[in-house]
Amino acid sequence: MSAARVALVLGGRHGLLGQALTKALPLAGWRAVALGREDFDPFDQGALRETCQREQATAIFNTVAYTAVDQAEDDRDAAFRLNRNLPRLLGLSARELGIALVHFSTDFVFDGKKDTPYTAKDNPAPESVYGQSKLAGEQALLEIAPPDLLIIRTSWLFGPGKANFVSKILDLAHTRDKLTVVADQTGSPTYTPDLAKNSVVLLDSGARGLFHLASGGKATWCELAAQAVHLAGYPCRVEPIATDAWPAKAKRPRFSVLDLDAFTEATGIVPRPWEQGLRDYIFTDLALGDALGED
Ligand SMILES: NC(=O)c1ccc[n+]([C@@H]2O[C@H](COP(=O)([O-])OP(=O)(O)OC[C@H]3O[C@@H](n4cnc5c(N)ncnc54)[C@H](OP(=O)(O)O)[C@@H]3O)[C@@H](O)[C@H]2O)c1
Repeated sequence: MSAARVALVLGGRHGLLGQALTKALPLAGWRAVALGREDFDPFDQGALRETCQREQATAIFNTVAYTAVDQAEDDRDAAFRLNRNLPRLLGLSARELGIALVHFSTDFVFDGKKDTPYTAKDNPAPESVYGQSKLAGEQALLEIAPPDLLIIRTSWLFGPGKANFVSKILDLAHTRDKLTVVADQTGSPTYTPDLAKNSVVLLDSGARGLFHLASGGKATWCELAAQAVHLAGYPCRVEPIATDAWPAKAKRPRFSVLDLDAFTEATGIVPRPWEQGLRDYIFTDLALGDALGED
């Protein structure tokens, strides 16, 4: 019997996606080593190398990132340090150690001017510092080209283990009778346990390079919020507003739905619709609502 494959999950202790990966990997026959900043500084290449060797790691999953999209507008250096410099260093280490590297990027690399789903062949044109720094990370990795590199662009994450858009909406809806939510941005909401499972399948399929991966379907922020509030059974009205009515520092794409066909061609899997992930999140992870009474 072959030994279990071992993956280091950077951000695996506290990150939203990192925690989902730490749970999904063992179900696919991997041993997952969850790492947080208390274990070592991810920029410390010596500590990373030592950990890879001690754990006999065959892959690194990097979920560490600067994810505060609005704050990044005022904190460009910090965003580029985590979103460009860190993946670059990880790429060098993966190449030197001869191990796989799975790195996550974002739909915010697009300007949102299309109105059909974005494929990995579409030209990125980020309009925020966050998007620019994430694109710079992708480009640094593609330049270093470690032989076993997988870059996965994903979007609009929700799931257990950490506050996220859906959990924040539900917290507000619990105490208010009305919420207004942006209804002129459309994207691919994504349930992190599904993304984590499918990311491991993609790696195991032997696919390498740049892929788009999210839950199936599309929604506006307002549709996602309304569905979450409805499932949770809260008597709170969710009303649409325009982006202009909710000023934010960073510019977000108006449309950033991801095309998942390349993932399906590589794995034979069609990702579940986001609505199904949302039900699992609300009824099982958060234990809210009444799944049996749901229409
Ligand atoms: N969230 C989304 O909606 C979304 C959408 C598209 C793409 N993505 C991408 O998906 C990936 C995962 O996102 P996520 O939402 O799971 O991120 P997250 O929950 O914000 O987790 C990021 C991780 O990075 C760690 N980290 C941040 N700064 C660090 C530093 N200076 N040193 C060490 N660790 C540091 C955090 O550690 P602590 O917990 O200790 O702070 C956390 O574990 C990222 O690449 C992100 O760009 C996310």
